[in-house]
Amino acid sequence: MKASLVKGIRQEARHRVVSQNLLSAIMEGGPPVFATPWMLCVMETAAAELLIPHLDEGEASVGYGFEFKHLAPTPAGMTVVGSAEVVDVQGNMVTLTIEARDEVELIAQGTHVRAIVDLERFKRRLQRKSDRG
Ligand SMILES: CC(C)(COP(=O)(O)OP(=O)(O)OC[C@H]1O[C@@H](n2cnc3c(N)ncnc32)[C@H](O)[C@@H]1OP(=O)(O)O)[C@@H](O)C(=O)NCCC(=O)NCCS
Repeated sequence: MKASLVKGIRQEARHRVVSQNLLSAIMEGGPPVFATPWMLCVMETAAAELLIPHLDEGEASVGYGFEFKHLAPTPAGMTVVGSAEVVDVQGNMVTLTIEARDEVELIAQGTHVRAIVDLERFKRRLQRKSDRG
Protein backbone atom coordinates (compact mmCIF):
# COMPACT_ATOMS: atom_id res chain seq x y z
CA MET A 1 0.00 0.00 0.00
CA LYS A 2 1.10 3.57 -0.58
CA ALA A 3 2.11 6.08 2.12
CA SER A 4 -0.97 8.07 1.11
CA LEU A 5 -3.24 5.52 2.82
CA VAL A 6 -3.70 7.43 6.07
CA LYS A 7 -6.30 8.23 8.70
CA GLY A 8 -8.84 10.83 7.54
CA ILE A 9 -9.21 9.97 3.85
CA ARG A 10 -12.89 9.66 2.98
CA GLN A 11 -15.18 8.75 0.08
CA GLU A 12 -18.87 8.51 -0.77
CA ALA A 13 -20.89 6.23 -3.05
CA ARG A 14 -24.47 6.90 -4.21
CA HIS A 15 -27.28 4.53 -5.10
CA ARG A 16 -30.91 5.15 -6.05
CA VAL A 17 -33.13 2.51 -4.45
CA VAL A 18 -35.04 0.51 -7.09
CA SER A 19 -37.64 -2.20 -6.57
CA GLN A 20 -35.06 -5.01 -6.93
CA ASN A 21 -33.26 -3.62 -3.83
CA LEU A 22 -36.29 -4.03 -1.58
CA LEU A 23 -36.56 -6.77 1.02
CA SER A 24 -39.90 -7.71 -0.57
CA ALA A 25 -38.00 -8.62 -3.78
CA ILE A 26 -35.61 -10.89 -1.88
CA MET A 27 -37.87 -12.39 0.77
CA GLU A 28 -41.48 -13.26 0.23
CA GLY A 29 -43.67 -11.42 2.72
CA GLY A 30 -40.95 -8.90 3.60
CA PRO A 31 -41.81 -5.17 3.77
CA PRO A 32 -40.99 -2.91 0.78
CA VAL A 33 -37.88 -1.45 2.42
CA PHE A 34 -34.27 -1.04 1.19
CA ALA A 35 -32.73 -4.42 2.09
CA THR A 36 -29.76 -4.52 4.47
CA PRO A 37 -27.36 -6.43 2.13
CA TRP A 38 -27.85 -3.78 -0.57
CA MET A 39 -27.31 -0.99 1.94
CA LEU A 40 -24.09 -2.63 3.10
CA CYS A 41 -23.05 -2.86 -0.54
CA VAL A 42 -23.31 0.94 -0.91
CA MET A 43 -21.13 1.50 2.18
CA GLU A 44 -18.63 -1.18 1.11
CA THR A 45 -18.41 0.33 -2.37
CA ALA A 46 -17.42 3.66 -0.82
CA ALA A 47 -14.73 1.91 1.27
CA ALA A 48 -13.38 -0.22 -1.59
CA GLU A 49 -13.26 2.68 -4.06
CA LEU A 50 -11.59 4.88 -1.45
CA LEU A 51 -8.66 2.46 -1.13
CA ILE A 52 -8.02 1.79 -4.84
CA PRO A 53 -5.75 4.81 -5.53
CA HIS A 54 -3.69 3.97 -2.44
CA LEU A 55 -2.86 0.37 -3.40
CA ASP A 56 0.38 -0.78 -4.98
CA GLU A 57 0.48 -2.75 -8.20
CA GLY A 58 -0.68 -6.35 -7.57
CA GLU A 59 -2.65 -5.49 -4.43
CA ALA A 60 -6.41 -5.55 -3.84
CA SER A 61 -8.57 -4.85 -0.81
CA VAL A 62 -11.12 -7.39 0.41
CA GLY A 63 -13.86 -7.12 3.01
CA TYR A 64 -12.84 -8.71 6.34
CA GLY A 65 -14.84 -7.20 9.22
CA PHE A 66 -18.24 -5.56 9.41
CA GLU A 67 -20.12 -4.24 12.41
CA PHE A 68 -22.99 -1.90 11.79
CA LYS A 69 -26.57 -1.10 12.67
CA HIS A 70 -29.36 -0.54 10.16
CA LEU A 71 -31.09 2.34 11.95
CA ALA A 72 -34.02 3.42 9.76
CA PRO A 73 -36.07 2.13 6.79
CA THR A 74 -35.78 3.63 3.28
CA PRO A 75 -38.45 3.43 0.54
CA ALA A 76 -37.86 2.85 -3.20
CA GLY A 77 -37.00 5.96 -5.21
CA MET A 78 -34.76 7.58 -2.62
CA THR A 79 -31.04 8.09 -3.17
CA VAL A 80 -28.80 6.61 -0.50
CA VAL A 81 -25.30 7.99 0.10
CA GLY A 82 -22.80 5.61 1.71
CA SER A 83 -19.56 6.97 3.12
CA ALA A 84 -16.34 5.51 4.47
CA GLU A 85 -13.44 7.11 6.31
CA VAL A 86 -10.15 5.53 7.31
CA VAL A 87 -9.62 5.64 11.08
CA ASP A 88 -6.72 3.19 11.53
CA VAL A 89 -4.11 1.26 9.54
CA GLN A 90 -2.37 -1.71 11.23
CA GLY A 91 -0.18 -3.75 8.91
CA ASN A 92 -2.41 -4.86 6.04
CA MET A 93 -5.66 -4.22 7.97
CA VAL A 94 -7.47 -0.93 7.38
CA THR A 95 -10.29 0.10 9.73
CA LEU A 96 -12.93 2.51 8.46
CA THR A 97 -16.02 4.09 9.93
CA ILE A 98 -18.97 3.62 7.61
CA GLU A 99 -22.36 5.27 7.45
CA ALA A 100 -25.32 5.62 5.09
CA ARG A 101 -27.92 8.36 4.78
CA ASP A 102 -31.11 8.50 2.75
CA GLU A 103 -32.76 11.77 1.72
CA VAL A 104 -34.19 12.22 5.21
CA GLU A 105 -31.87 10.78 7.85
CA LEU A 106 -28.96 8.62 8.93
CA ILE A 107 -29.90 5.00 8.14
CA ALA A 108 -26.76 3.07 9.09
CA GLN A 109 -23.58 3.49 11.09
CA GLY A 110 -20.69 1.20 11.95
CA THR A 111 -17.16 -0.01 11.40
CA HIS A 112 -15.59 -1.94 8.55
CA VAL A 113 -12.17 -3.60 8.26
CA ARG A 114 -10.60 -4.26 4.87
CA ALA A 115 -7.56 -6.47 4.32
CA ILE A 116 -5.02 -5.40 1.73
CA VAL A 117 -3.98 -8.62 0.00
CA ASP A 118 -1.51 -9.69 -2.60
CA LEU A 119 -3.79 -10.58 -5.51
CA GLU A 120 -1.75 -13.48 -6.87
CA ARG A 121 -1.42 -15.14 -3.44
CA PHE A 122 -5.12 -14.63 -2.82
CA LYS A 123 -5.98 -16.17 -6.22
CA ARG A 124 -3.73 -19.17 -5.48
CA ARG A 125 -5.70 -19.78 -2.26
CA LEU A 126 -8.96 -19.57 -4.24
CA GLN A 127 -7.61 -22.00 -6.83
CA ARG A 128 -6.59 -24.48 -4.13
CA LYS A 129 -10.16 -24.35 -2.80
CA SER A 130 -11.65 -24.77 -6.30
CA ASP A 131 -9.45 -27.82 -6.80
CA ARG A 132 -10.88 -29.35 -3.60
CA GLY A 133 -14.51 -28.76 -4.61
C1 LIG B 1 -8.58 -11.35 4.71
C2 LIG B 1 -7.88 -12.67 4.86
C3 LIG B 1 -6.93 -12.92 3.70
C4 LIG B 1 -7.05 -12.57 6.15
O1 LIG B 1 -6.47 -13.75 6.33
P1 LIG B 1 -5.60 -14.13 7.61
O2 LIG B 1 -6.48 -14.68 8.64
O3 LIG B 1 -4.72 -12.98 7.99
O4 LIG B 1 -4.80 -15.21 6.88
P2 LIG B 1 -3.67 -16.20 7.36
O5 LIG B 1 -2.44 -15.42 7.72
O6 LIG B 1 -4.22 -17.20 8.32
O7 LIG B 1 -3.42 -16.91 5.94
C5 LIG B 1 -4.40 -17.76 5.37
C6 LIG B 1 -4.41 -17.52 3.88
O8 LIG B 1 -4.98 -16.24 3.60
C7 LIG B 1 -4.34 -15.69 2.46
N1 LIG B 1 -3.67 -14.44 2.83
C8 LIG B 1 -3.32 -14.00 4.07
N2 LIG B 1 -2.74 -12.81 4.00
C9 LIG B 1 -2.70 -12.50 2.69
C10 LIG B 1 -2.21 -11.40 1.97
N3 LIG B 1 -1.64 -10.35 2.57
N4 LIG B 1 -2.31 -11.43 0.62
C11 LIG B 1 -2.89 -12.47 0.00
N5 LIG B 1 -3.38 -13.53 0.61
C12 LIG B 1 -3.29 -13.54 1.95
C13 LIG B 1 -3.29 -16.65 1.99
O9 LIG B 1 -3.81 -17.43 0.95
C14 LIG B 1 -3.05 -17.49 3.22
O10 LIG B 1 -2.66 -18.81 2.89
P3 LIG B 1 -1.17 -19.09 2.32
O11 LIG B 1 -0.22 -18.46 3.31
O12 LIG B 1 -1.11 -20.58 2.28
O13 LIG B 1 -1.10 -18.47 0.97
C15 LIG B 1 -8.88 -13.87 4.98
O14 LIG B 1 -9.60 -13.75 6.19
C16 LIG B 1 -9.84 -13.92 3.81
O15 LIG B 1 -9.46 -14.32 2.72
N6 LIG B 1 -11.13 -13.54 4.04
C17 LIG B 1 -12.13 -13.55 2.97
C18 LIG B 1 -12.13 -12.20 2.25
C19 LIG B 1 -13.15 -12.17 1.15
O16 LIG B 1 -13.26 -13.10 0.39
N7 LIG B 1 -13.90 -11.09 1.09
C20 LIG B 1 -14.93 -10.97 0.10
C21 LIG B 1 -14.44 -10.18 -1.08
S1 LIG B 1 -14.60 -8.43 -0.80
